[in-house]
Amino acid sequence: MQGRKKQNMIELKNVHFSYESATKDTKLALNRINLKISCGEFVAVVGANGSGKSTLAKHLNGLLIPTSGDVLVLGANTKCEEDSIFIKKNVGMVFQNPDNQLVFTIVEEDVAFALENLGVPQQEMRERVEKTLSQLNILEYKNASNAELSGGQKQLVAIAGVLVINPKFIVLDESTAMLDPQSRDDVMCILKKLNSELGIAVVLITHFMEEAALAERIIVMNEGKVELDDSPRQVFKKLELLESIGLSVPQVTKFCHELNLLGENLPLGIVDENECAIELAKILKGPRR
Ligand SMILES: Nc1ncnc2c1ncn2[C@@H]1O[C@H](COP(=O)(O)OP(=O)(O)OP(=O)(O)O)[C@@H](O)[C@H]1O
Ligand SMILES: [Mg+2]
Repeated sequence: MQGRKKQNMIELKNVHFSYESATKDTKLALNRINLKISCGEFVAVVGANGSGKSTLAKHLNGLLIPTSGDVLVLGANTKCEEDSIFIKKNVGMVFQNPDNQLVFTIVEEDVAFALENLGVPQQEMRERVEKTLSQLNILEYKNASNAELSGGQKQLVAIAGVLVINPKFIVLDESTAMLDPQSRDDVMCILKKLNSELGIAVVLITHFMEEAALAERIIVMNEGKVELDDSPRQVFKKLELLESIGLSVPQVTKFCHELNLLGENLPLGIVDENECAIELAKILKGPRR
């Protein structure tokens, strides 16, 4: 770590990755990825099945190392073994199924697990666990057994287990996929709060376009490459392209697009229901045709 330049971001430089040992015919799971994700950002990553989203996520905290190219986390190269604890402390990962992430029976023990591994003293550990559970509005479950919790509550415990080590980035790989709509909303609300109030950068991999529309920026993966990288509005303007690579758009965007096909002239890439309502009201109040 000595002598490395401190940076406020995760940077992927010309990253290629193949799961097989490199032969000429091997399909690249990541193909020439150049990206910067800064501290404090809220980024969604979308893409069809097999487009490379999980492979990308695993590169962000060194779970996978590029076949060629570099990933720098706050300036530390994931190839450098001596930086691996620094990297894992700063980039927390939450996966799809919380049952695979929760190790202990009791919530408090589970959340404390990472701190124990880091040798944090008992008193400090208890305080940090309580603070984290409060931040996620689940302090009341501190002494509960994980088995008693709903899927959404378990996912919040899994997020707590990551948040407790004070990471600068949290990467969630389809962590809302198994949840009911209400729990999905609860998790999204918490992520928004962690991002806006604590400045934690969120990288959210999702199949739900309505969720992606809530991010500041959307990265669209296609066959191991970055196809688009822009604001939700700019990304969802490209409805035909998205559909051609197996993706949908939020219902409200599709609805406005269909109206335009019928001859209306609504702004492209509307992702917000209020904006849609305002535009529709303009049409309804406009001159009769
Ligand atoms: N462990 C593995 N061994 C070999 N190939 C793999 C492995 N994991 C993924 N792949 C391949 O790498 C490519 C990218 O997979 P990846 O899991 O990153 O896609 P994804 O976008 O996360 O897909 P999904 O939406 O299904 O989760 C795919 O072609 C996939 O088949
Ligand atoms: Mg995946």
